[in-house]
Amino acid sequence: MQEYLIEEIVKALQDGDLVALPTETVYGLAANALNLQAVKKIFDVKGRPLIDPLIVHIHDINQAEQLAHLPPLAYKLAEKFWPGPLTLVLPKKTVVPDIVTAGLPNIAIRIPKHPIFQKLLATSKLPLAAPSANPFGYLSPTKAQHVKKTLGHKIKYIVDGGPCTIGLESTILSLINPQKPEILRPGPIDAHDLQSVLGLEPTYPTKISQKGAQLAPGLLKSHYSPQTPLKPFSSEKLPQLLNPLGKYAIIFLQRPHQAPQAPSTEIFWLSEDGNLNEVAKNLFSLLAHLDDQNFDSIFIELPPNKGLGLAINDRLKRAFH
Ligand code: TXA
Ligand code: MG
Repeated sequence: MQEYLIEEIVKALQDGDLVALPTETVYGLAANALNLQAVKKIFDVKGRPLIDPLIVHIHDINQAEQLAHLPPLAYKLAEKFWPGPLTLVLPKKTVVPDIVTAGLPNIAIRIPKHPIFQKLLATSKLPLAAPSANPFGYLSPTKAQHVKKTLGHKIKYIVDGGPCTIGLESTILSLINPQKPEILRPGPIDAHDLQSVLGLEPTYPTKISQKGAQLAPGLLKSHYSPQTPLKPFSSEKLPQLLNPLGKYAIIFLQRPHQAPQAPSTEIFWLSEDGNLNEVAKNLFSLLAHLDDQNFDSIFIELPPNKGLGLAINDRLKRAFH
């Protein structure tokens, strides 16, 4: 992977070029959020529909105030969780081009924690719109090589900051109605963490439309998918599902004591001892790796549906096919 000076990358961003950058969650495909043409390139390169709004990454709370109207709750959350994997949806100011928010009156913002991204934000002083750096609908990249493989022919700058430490996209919390904060996308900061600051339990949207810019496409039924069919693992159903001539991968959360007795299967695990932080960190990377190996199907064990497990299951549910 080519190495760049910070100044080169800042210049590229100022010139309206796209740059793939590491964040603590997943790699992002960044452009100057205030440059309409630059932002348009993000949609072109990803094959992303224009109804899908982007998260804007900022350096500090002052920059947040330039882009959005912040209720008192936003300051409290920022204090506790920024920099970090929490995205806030807030009423936007007119300086933000409509293309960034897909025409919505709200903007999604966060301060990322990765030192390279922070350095670029500090040096360029630009707000950077950045979705995950993957073709629309595919797994989010957690290593620079993932970006190179799927988008390398379309973008000039990929900054390698090593594997992402979290590996799962940020939690998205809407503060559009501060009396009723809503988790639009579960993530590394869970409802319980948020409640400690909100003083009440955040809710989840009850009805999600499948069309229009009202939703987070992270909430679309199908998203984050490998090309190989991916299915939930259940040991009872497994024998009937397997064709003896096929080739299958089974992914466990932790190293299994006893591997299932099935022909033509290979066994993998996401963590030695089932630690969910490690599971999240390795999930997309292992799926991307297995997606290249001509398995007929991949089966994966689901974690308990709470805390980080809820976010992992949310992504997996959308990836199953
Ligand atoms: O961890 C992350 O959030 C990563 C890194 C790169 O920061 N970014 C990421 O971006 O996951 P993306 O574009 O793959 O997912 C962003 C989600 C989308 O589902 C989008 O619809 C939602 O954020 N979103 C963005 N702006 C919104 C808005 N104004 N209202 C509601 N949802 C919004
Ligand atoms: Mg994405």
